[in-house]
Amino acid sequence: MHIQGKTALVTGASRGIGRAIALELAQQGVKCLLLLARDRQRLAEVAAEISPLGVEVVTLALDLAQPIEVNIALAQAWRDHGPIHLLVNCAGVAHQTPFLQAQLPQVQEEIAINLVGMYTLTRLVARRMAGQREGTIVNVSSLMGKVAAPTMATYSATKFAILGFTQALRGELATHNIQVKALLPSLTDTDMVRELQWFRWVRPMTPEKVAQALMVGLHKESPEILVGWQSHLAVWCNRIAPRLLEKILLLAAPLSQGRQKSHQRFRPARAVTH
Ligand SMILES: NC(=O)c1ccc[n+]([C@@H]2O[C@H](COP(=O)([O-])OP(=O)(O)OC[C@H]3O[C@@H](n4cnc5c(N)ncnc54)[C@H](OP(=O)(O)O)[C@@H]3O)[C@@H](O)[C@H]2O)c1
Repeated sequence: MHIQGKTALVTGASRGIGRAIALELAQQGVKCLLLLARDRQRLAEVAAEISPLGVEVVTLALDLAQPIEVNIALAQAWRDHGPIHLLVNCAGVAHQTPFLQAQLPQVQEEIAINLVGMYTLTRLVARRMAGQREGTIVNVSSLMGKVAAPTMATYSATKFAILGFTQALRGELATHNIQVKALLPSLTDTDMVRELQWFRWVRPMTPEKVAQALMVGLHKESPEILVGWQSHLAVWCNRIAPRLLEKILLLAAPLSQGRQKSHQRFRPARAVTH
């Protein structure tokens, strides 16, 4: 896809990876950007960074867990600024907790934002894209959507589900000339992971690197965009030696014996974004 002169909607654009994607799209010549997240102030700050690049910027301060508000705002945005050519579903939340201490409200939040929120917006946008017979949708999953990680069971489950959702839509929407891809970042230095206990040996990347990988991936046929060599290595290892990778993950996870001693007590789970 060539994004020059196009209109894009990015969710989770107030910070982290979504913000970096919005900035990268602006630098690459997108004509109009719609930025969606809840925090109006932060969205305004991102818009102020982007506007000088000559891009029309529209902020949508919305909670993706509120489908009626999202529906109304999207209809207005499409009428006033559409058609939207590219949708990047980047908003997400993550909780890290040992499964035996997990709390239902945290699981419900992950499902509400990572899955139902993505579904809500994608349905609204895809129907309109189908009408114009053009569009690209990128769903942000994670390396944890390929390789499930101890202490992140329900987050991993939502990210696996996003890959299934993406694969199904890819087949179904191709007849409407809509491309559907998944972006799979590995550990990235954002608010989301600042309070997490990191997995041993994993090196974080910058949100800008993820955004650049997306730009490259948009030009390629590949339906899944893996970011960084660590992701390629993990996916490859999972394919040829899944048991070995499982053992490595257990050693690397914050739950492993040696690591638990050093952390004394697992930090209570908290919403690590939002
Ligand atoms: N960081 C990583 O290591 C990593 C790795 C792989 C994949 N990912 C994925 O990349 C995506 C972005 O993560 P990030 O690291 O950039 O996280 P982040 O810095 O915490 O940003 C999360 C974004 O989602 C938005 N958001 C959260 N809840 C929302 C809601 N109810 N309605 C609308 N927007 C909401 C937040 O905006 P407001 O708070 O303003 O609403 C924020 O813009 C997520 O899908 C995440 O799962 C992250």
